[in-house]
Amino acid sequence: MTSCGTSSQVEPPQVEAPLAVLAELTHRCPLRCAYCSNPLALDPASRELDTATWCRVLDEAADLGVIQVHFSGGEPTARKDLEQLVAHATQAGLYANLITSAVLLDRARLERLRDAGLQHVQIGFQDTVADKAELISGFPGGHPKKLEVAQHVTDLGMALTVNAIVQRHNIDRVDDFIDMALDLKAGRIEIANVQYYGWALKNRGGLMPTRDQLIRMDERVRARLPELKGRLVVDYVVPDYYAKRPKACMGGWGRKFLNVTPSGKVLPCHAAETIPGMAFDSVTERPLADIWANSAAFQRYRGTDWMPQPCRSCDQREIDWGGCRCQALALTGNADNVDPVCDRSDRHGLLAGITATDGSTAEVPFTYRSFSL
Ligand code: FES
Repeated sequence: MTSCGTSSQVEPPQVEAPLAVLAELTHRCPLRCAYCSNPLALDPASRELDTATWCRVLDEAADLGVIQVHFSGGEPTARKDLEQLVAHATQAGLYANLITSAVLLDRARLERLRDAGLQHVQIGFQDTVADKAELISGFPGGHPKKLEVAQHVTDLGMALTVNAIVQRHNIDRVDDFIDMALDLKAGRIEIANVQYYGWALKNRGGLMPTRDQLIRMDERVRARLPELKGRLVVDYVVPDYYAKRPKACMGGWGRKFLNVTPSGKVLPCHAAETIPGMAFDSVTERPLADIWANSAAFQRYRGTDWMPQPCRSCDQREIDWGGCRCQALALTGNADNVDPVCDRSDRHGLLAGITATDGSTAEVPFTYRSFSL
């Protein structure tokens, strides 16, 4: 496996280094998921960064102090240079994780990726039942393929996370998701409630569970935790629309993570491009460390100075960091507003209205994505 470039030297930033980079290698994806959180306008293959530029970005990330790189998409395995990028990240000292739908993988390629240094694979599962998984992904035959690939991941000695993407049609099978993760010898399960950004917002009326479904899931997960201790790490948070306190989205804007899009724009979160009037610098024009420390987009909501009341004087402000800017935008029309998930927001009642109309068990037809390889 060859290296493919060296880093440019830049001054270290005055802010704390990010923990991880989400490297969105491509927006191309064979799945057509109704819950896709990628932006409505996707980068075409012709605008994707080339191998040498990604290698430079990985070096710059390592120089900046980043510890982990999450290779993601779209479907990152659609990139033929993935092995080369994993090898380069590993040589640069980064922990390499692959976030994948798994449907394009086979054992031989996984072996090559492992040999290149891949340490962890996170596979997204749409359901535990094949035909129901297809209903969400719009991709025939995906579920058995995912199970097969997941087996190979652990057989080949890599760590596995089952990413259980939970919504109204599968939320009552949370026990089955946990059992599936145990059968697959996963070390971790992420019970990821669908978030309504990007494409998913179009399908909110067909995806959002009811409050009763949510309460049942919560009871089941909590009941299983004692038996799972030491066997399976469970990452689980109450979905925003039924919560009273906002999540610290991305661990706080510009605090822990950065996201590089297929065409090289550097974002504080994967949905940040939905915020109107915000400009994002590109790795093709500016060093990563400079963007992280100084770019207008990262400064915009970093820390607490930007916060409106009541966030600014709230005792939770350095815990939730004001919640999610993209959600404040999606729900109130302005990303500067208090995240209405917080029950101290005077707009918190909005959520009750949305869950009353969209939270149901009805069969609502999906609008599927279509973005070919
Ligand atoms: Fe953008 Fe939460 S998704 S801040």
